[in-house]
Amino acid sequence: MEKHLQELLEQALAELSAAADSRALYEAKMKYLGRAGSVSALYKTLKTLPQEARPAYGQQINEVRVQIETHAEVRAADLAASELSARLMGEREDVTMPGRRARRGTLHPVTRVKNQLIDIFAGMGFEIFEGPEIENDYYNFTALNTPADHPARDMQDTFYVSGEFLLRTQTSAGQIRLMEKKKPPIKMLSPGRVFRSDDDATHSPMFHQMEGLVVDKHITLCDLQGMLDEFARVMFSEASKTRLRPSYFPFTEPSVEVDVSCHACGGKGCPLCKGTGWIEVLGAGMVNRRVLENCGIDPDKYTGFAFGMGIERIAMLKYGINNIKLLTENDVRFLEQFR
Ligand code: DAH
Repeated sequence: MEKHLQELLEQALAELSAAADSRALYEAKMKYLGRAGSVSALYKTLKTLPQEARPAYGQQINEVRVQIETHAEVRAADLAASELSARLMGEREDVTMPGRRARRGTLHPVTRVKNQLIDIFAGMGFEIFEGPEIENDYYNFTALNTPADHPARDMQDTFYVSGEFLLRTQTSAGQIRLMEKKKPPIKMLSPGRVFRSDDDATHSPMFHQMEGLVVDKHITLCDLQGMLDEFARVMFSEASKTRLRPSYFPFTEPSVEVDVSCHACGGKGCPLCKGTGWIEVLGAGMVNRRVLENCGIDPDKYTGFAFGMGIERIAMLKYGINNIKLLTENDVRFLEQFR
């Protein structure tokens, strides 16, 4: 091979060997074999040679080209392999890295208390009845012995929808709906939303109540207190006791306000129970005979008791929540605490 071809070939092979990555290799290869490369330029010199010298010289240029091409291919394969393994090393999974956790939801405190109430009373044989949230005047008031001009209507600030329709102010309306359909023995538990135009730290225009109704032969106030004692023990603490205080509701006679001994201080007196040792949790009483009559049940044959409690109120007492608004804001930082 001619000396200058030999030198060109050696220089080309050295440059290909020195290329540090695929990109540099490509550039080195193009420097010789590209359209404007030095080997391509050699072919152009062929026609300046005498006719008989051309084949031998041409063959030598071919030889140079083939060697460069072959070497470039071998280097390309080497570089591709080492670049791939470098990339794989860099991207390797770190199996010790902590995973991203999916945050688990929890039941809302109102739902928890509602479910717990259902558990307690279902265990005593109560069945669930759900009445409508839009009620008419008859079921929400009149049939509950609260006729149009009765002063007790002022006990609740009613949202009227139109004409005789209103948003129920109490789940007690369900008592009438059930007793119209079903005759004693009755053991009904009725959870649901109720609405009143009332708004401060312990009152909200929408809240939940749990209503209870038992009607049968020989039902007395003692039966009511026995069931409520059991409710207080399960809901608040094993040592909880109840106390009945006289009160007034148009649909019960006698009516009582039910207090539970304070679960925070055990009845000694603390800020939660305002030093009294007792906390008011619900209203109740013996079903007024007029209410039974309104539903076609003979009050000389049957007696019954009823109770109604605010579910938010129970939840606030149980979990030490001081503002009812926390229960509707649904701030996850608040809700997360009920795991
Ligand atoms: N409905 C009453 C209220 O919302 C609560 C209540 C009191 C329900 C006495 C009753 C009951 O069933 O007997 O304030």
